[in-house]
Amino acid sequence: MLAVCAESCKLAAELIKKGEIVAFPTETVYGLGANAYDTDAVAKIFVAKNRPHDNPLIVHVATTEQVAEFAYVNEFARKTMETFLPGSLTVVLPKKSTIPSAVTAGFETVAVRIPLSKEARMFLSECSVPVCAPSANTSTRPSPTRAKDVFEDLQGKIPLILCGKDCDVGIESTVLDLTSDTPTILRPGVVTKSVLERGLGISVRDFSAENKKVNSPGLRYKHYAPSVPVLLNTNGDVVKVVEKIDELHKSYDKIALFADSDVCDRVMHKINGQELLIEVLPPTAEGVAERIFALFRDYEKRCQAIVMVFEDKSEFGRSVLNRLMKSCGSHTF
Ligand code: TXA
Ligand code: MG
Repeated sequence: MLAVCAESCKLAAELIKKGEIVAFPTETVYGLGANAYDTDAVAKIFVAKNRPHDNPLIVHVATTEQVAEFAYVNEFARKTMETFLPGSLTVVLPKKSTIPSAVTAGFETVAVRIPLSKEARMFLSECSVPVCAPSANTSTRPSPTRAKDVFEDLQGKIPLILCGKDCDVGIESTVLDLTSDTPTILRPGVVTKSVLERGLGISVRDFSAENKKVNSPGLRYKHYAPSVPVLLNTNGDVVKVVEKIDELHKSYDKIALFADSDVCDRVMHKINGQELLIEVLPPTAEGVAERIFALFRDYEKRCQAIVMVFEDKSEFGRSVLNRLMKSCGSHTF
């Protein structure tokens, strides 16, 4: 692990150009990067993460000028990138033949991202080649939002982790498909439908909110799951929460409750003398997003089951809920 600075970014870029893979911070989650033009390097990502081969990678660059090297950028795509990038938005564009199909899992499209994080862009601009990068976790595990989470999953498997700030968004970028007539959200994130519509002046479809099979392979797999079960309640019904905790106590000694301060207080009044680890969640969806994957990783070491109450109905709250539903295997109560 090396702290992000001009020198460590140079070293990391050297490794990338030599065909190695390197973990680096972004504002959303940590990424695991390889030279997107180097098929052997790309293969190393799939091995290190144990990632299914039919799940394509996002290509990261430091500036919009680099995008035309490997993707077709029409007027609307250019406008979208100018409006939102750098930012926590990934755009899916038609790919050029410069990008090997190992990166795009055989798709004729390529996902492109310019992170907001200055640390990420310092590394990317040293690389001079586009860097394809998934989140730097073992497949199925919660995404890494701290350098130590990357270390936990990938130590001994990669030569370098660039250690930066903890990620302040905390969930992955919004994925927006620009290859169909209507721009379509494939994965929700902090750049929400209404933010996109306001910025672009046209209506945007949110495929991720429709109950259909989505055209983004990553959405098919188990994801974001800690090693202990997560039981999710989305309506704040304290009676049900207490019942669930009682039921779990028949099988487990150590149970954690993640909820806002009001729900935590009300639950504490209702349970009698049973041990419960309490984590009071921040009051906003933004605050929850920033901490949730780190909390899952911390608590899986301390408890046998996590009961979580999340009832935020804001637009970004729904993006956070999209991740939580996967963490709990869609088992809500
Ligand atoms: O915030 C992020 O996007 C982070 C950081 C590291 O940049 N990266 C990330 O990568 O989350 P990953 O591999 O964990 O997720 C990539 C998502 C998957 O859902 C994948 O299916 C989708 O993007 N994707 C990639 N290329 C695509 C394409 N050509 N068409 C549709 N979906 C695509
Ligand atoms: Mg991921």
